[in-house]
Amino acid sequence: MVKFDFDDLSLERLRKRRGSKWAKYGPDVLPSWVAEMDFALAPSVHRALQEAIELGDCGYAHEGEIRQSFARFAKRKFDWGVNSEALVLMPDVMSGVAEVLRAFTSAGEGVVINPPVYPPFYTAIRSAERRIVTVPLQDAADGWQLDLQRLEAAFEQGARAYLLCNPHNPTGRVFSRAELEAVARLALHFNVLVISDEVHGPLVMPEKSHVPYVSTSDAQRSLAFTIISTSKGWNIPALKCAVLVPSSDVVGRQAAQRFPHDMIDRVSQLGIVASVAAFAEDGLQWLDQLVAYLDGNRQRLGALLAAELPGVGYHIPDAGYLAWLDCRALGLGSNPADEFLDRGRVALYSGSDFGPEGEGYVRLNFGTSFDLVQEAIRRMKVTVSRR
Ligand SMILES: Cc1ncc(COP(=O)(O)O)c(C=O)c1O
Repeated sequence: MVKFDFDDLSLERLRKRRGSKWAKYGPDVLPSWVAEMDFALAPSVHRALQEAIELGDCGYAHEGEIRQSFARFAKRKFDWGVNSEALVLMPDVMSGVAEVLRAFTSAGEGVVINPPVYPPFYTAIRSAERRIVTVPLQDAADGWQLDLQRLEAAFEQGARAYLLCNPHNPTGRVFSRAELEAVARLALHFNVLVISDEVHGPLVMPEKSHVPYVSTSDAQRSLAFTIISTSKGWNIPALKCAVLVPSSDVVGRQAAQRFPHDMIDRVSQLGIVASVAAFAEDGLQWLDQLVAYLDGNRQRLGALLAAELPGVGYHIPDAGYLAWLDCRALGLGSNPADEFLDRGRVALYSGSDFGPEGEGYVRLNFGTSFDLVQEAIRRMKVTVSRR
């Protein structure tokens, strides 16, 4: 089997990238903020894109094999049988969230989220003119926990929808089948729409399993959608192609009637080409090795923090490449990301952007070589010593 080398990254080459991660700050800053990895593309994705470029295949999108290719991936990766005919293509996960909110809820209705949570969840709900209802995750000794009692209370008090983030960004928590079944029971009982953002699902670590929300039996009897894409797992958010899976064929038909009919024209042809390659066997072999590398990084990061910055709190994430770091004991104030940038020249995502529950926290990205993770921690340590 081909072995991919995730350690082999050149800072000089990364600094030539023109996307927001590398272009936002000057050359003295190490960017570790936005959820984007530094690795080279999966070779099979690279080849598929190169072939498309050589053919000048950059026109309007055609679905091609994406439905069947996603269905095969879902079965192989999550043991999840999906009806390929019921899938809806969207340009990206967040536009899928916005379309579902618009199609299935009304202005002013409450939408539950679990802060600290991915900042665009707030903007998506506000721009749809829905009301944000918060049920914060609880920081327990063994990791971040969903508060099912408060969730039930929010549903009982009339929230109309629940925007679930599973795996959860920024905490990296993966919800178990039992937790998701409990959510689905409540949602069915209170007639709440569930939109499950599973963009980090392909990056679940070996000791856990990703359970697609709409694969649970009560979800299938209610109104729900799972939205997923290749943008995080294969690191191609530029390419704009996401898949929305309705909880049943009936829900799928309602969605098809209510969504704008030109959706396919908003999806990128290159995104379809790249996603088909990502979902195929070669793409999955690369993904498995990527997850093994990230698994190493999340563990080594724990040891590094314990040795270099013992005041920082860190629950090892169950998925992905984001570390949610509690910096409240470092004495850097309510927005430590500003201090890390000013004094240490390392750009981290500010915890307060994830909601007031994130004050005093930062989000670090370890989707890079471990050398660069070490460099980020070195810069954080410099910040603390210059206090
Ligand atoms: C939870 C979550 N949802 C959605 C996105 C963005 O996905 P997309 O670019 O497909 O909208 C991200 C990106 O970091 C994310 O972490």
